[in-house]
Amino acid sequence: MGKYQLIATAAMGLEALVAKEVKDLGYEGSTENGKVTFTGDEAAIARANLWLRTADRVKIKAGEFKAFTFDELFEKTKALPWEQFISEDAEFPVSGKSVKSKLFSVSDCQAIVKKAIVERLKKAYSRTTRFEETGPLVKIEISLLKDVATLTIDTSGAGLHKRGYRAGQGEAPLKETLAASLVLLTNWTADKPFIDPFCGSGTIPIEAALIGQNIAPGFNREFVSEQWGWIPERIWDEARTEAEDMANYDQPLDISGSDIDHRMIKIAEGNAFEAGLGELISFKQMQVRDLTSDKQYGVIVANPPYGERLGDRPAVEKMYREMGEAFGKLETWSKYIMTAHEDFEKFYGKPATKKRKLFNGFIKTDYYQYWGPRPPRGE
Ligand SMILES: C[S@@+](CC[C@H](N)C(=O)[O-])C[C@H]1O[C@@H](n2cnc3c(N)ncnc32)[C@H](O)[C@@H]1O
Repeated sequence: MGKYQLIATAAMGLEALVAKEVKDLGYEGSTENGKVTFTGDEAAIARANLWLRTADRVKIKAGEFKAFTFDELFEKTKALPWEQFISEDAEFPVSGKSVKSKLFSVSDCQAIVKKAIVERLKKAYSRTTRFEETGPLVKIEISLLKDVATLTIDTSGAGLHKRGYRAGQGEAPLKETLAASLVLLTNWTADKPFIDPFCGSGTIPIEAALIGQNIAPGFNREFVSEQWGWIPERIWDEARTEAEDMANYDQPLDISGSDIDHRMIKIAEGNAFEAGLGELISFKQMQVRDLTSDKQYGVIVANPPYGERLGDRPAVEKMYREMGEAFGKLETWSKYIMTAHEDFEKFYGKPATKKRKLFNGFIKTDYYQYWGPRPPRGE
């Protein structure tokens, strides 16, 4: 087993959640802007890809060094043991970015890194002819930040938000990693009722169900690093068996989603079915103003329209008012609403217990949290 520096990349603002997930998997991580770095072996690569709900992808940090000149970039890249990661037939494209660095020409940096790796591999594989690159994909990135070059290798392939269950989507589907984050930021536990009254394609209820039954979010998909010869198949098999063993399929759940648009309900049902959760989540067509429940101490997570287009604002503001009235009747429930509308609290009719800044893609939003009372002991 090798030891690798691994990076779980995180969307802005979600680093602490990713760090907690990394810790819960048993790895000690350090957090920086947009990433959590930790040390682990081949099993860690498989487990992190399978389990991390809120991270974007898992990368191997191949090396990190200062580079002020192209020569330095070339020599220090060539000094790294690339043959450990790149088989003789592998395809290894290099992408790049540069921020506040002397080496600002990204295309030149990419070309130099590629050339340095080719030289290294030619020596390692005693080769004089060019590499065919017809084999497994090993995507490399050179990232320069303040003259520090970081070379990473992507182990995920498609981003981790691609869980494999979303066959259909609406106009503004939430990224699965953000939906999972919204759920993990609440006080919801699997024994409490859970409602998403703006469920769209069902992302939030589906992520809640996966969390509720401790199902690994990556159980339904493959990862690019499975194609590499150097991570034994056995490692992936063991990680998948562990995920199967850890899943609690007997955990009863009370999760529902509703949406004003009946077409969305069909899509949400299809996606839940695809995730293997078809029986577990109930979806129905309903306007938020009609939301009621006779259950106690539940949790609402809502991703309503924001009314970004000026013309949409009055309708959205009226709807926020109706939402405030309907939610207000659920006195023991906790409510969490993500919106970019800056006057949300005014229309909803109540200041939030707490707000948290979150990005939905490039849209700056607030996650308005209205904490309900604690249930009495024994309830
Ligand atoms: C931002 S989208 C939610 C996307 C969803 N989280 C997903 O991942 O697909 C907002 C949803 O609210 C629904 N909606 C709009 N007005 C509504 C209302 N008054 N009551 C219930 N749903 C409403 C829309 O049909 C839309 O699907």
